[in-house]
Amino acid sequence: MRRPLHRRELLENCLALGTLTLVSPLSMGGLSEAWAASEQRRTTPFGELGPFYKRGAPASNVLRAEGDPGMPLALSGVVFGTGGEVLVEAKVEVWQTDHAGHYDIDGFRYRAVLAADANGKYAVDSVVPGHYPGRVAQHVHYLVTAPGYKPLTTQLYFATDPVFDGDPARNFHRDPLIASAELVRPVMIESDPKTVHARVQFDLVLEKA
Ligand SMILES: [Fe+2]
Repeated sequence: MRRPLHRRELLENCLALGTLTLVSPLSMGGLSEAWAASEQRRTTPFGELGPFYKRGAPASNVLRAEGDPGMPLALSGVVFGTGGEVLVEAKVEVWQTDHAGHYDIDGFRYRAVLAADANGKYAVDSVVPGHYPGRVAQHVHYLVTAPGYKPLTTQLYFATDPVFDGDPARNFHRDPLIASAELVRPVMIESDPKTVHARVQFDLVLEKA
């Protein structure tokens, strides 16, 4: 397999071939460092594992069965390391309630282990989870692992959740378990002649072990 060029080699090749022009007083080393710094990502904030985690979830990208009530949800994202590298060997475990706010304790409805693809991307077809007693906001739980990286436990929240009154940046504290407004993701509503569904992107960033 072809070895990907190191950033500096890539820059040097581009300069030599005229596909990159430097209009900057930076040296090649300085440019290479500045580029690397621009790709740094912050580790995704932590969220509690919670009491409803269950080992042994199936490997399935489709959690929503035909006829399930609730707003269909297309949830996806990319798994990165803090250096901006995509983690193609990542496993993304998700679990959530159904539309009515119930976890499946006996079985594995709305629970899955997703494998990242060659671009570090995961995707799952679900429904927007419901509210349940004891928790303020709708959420999807995540447990993300990748070889050589620290496991990440977190939760995803929805900007459209009525609890935020449309302003999650200001109101995310209404659920005391939400550590950061970053975990409250924007929701896109898409429609075609047959369905209306919500689309949410949630990228995940893991720290090296
Ligand atoms: Fe939960």
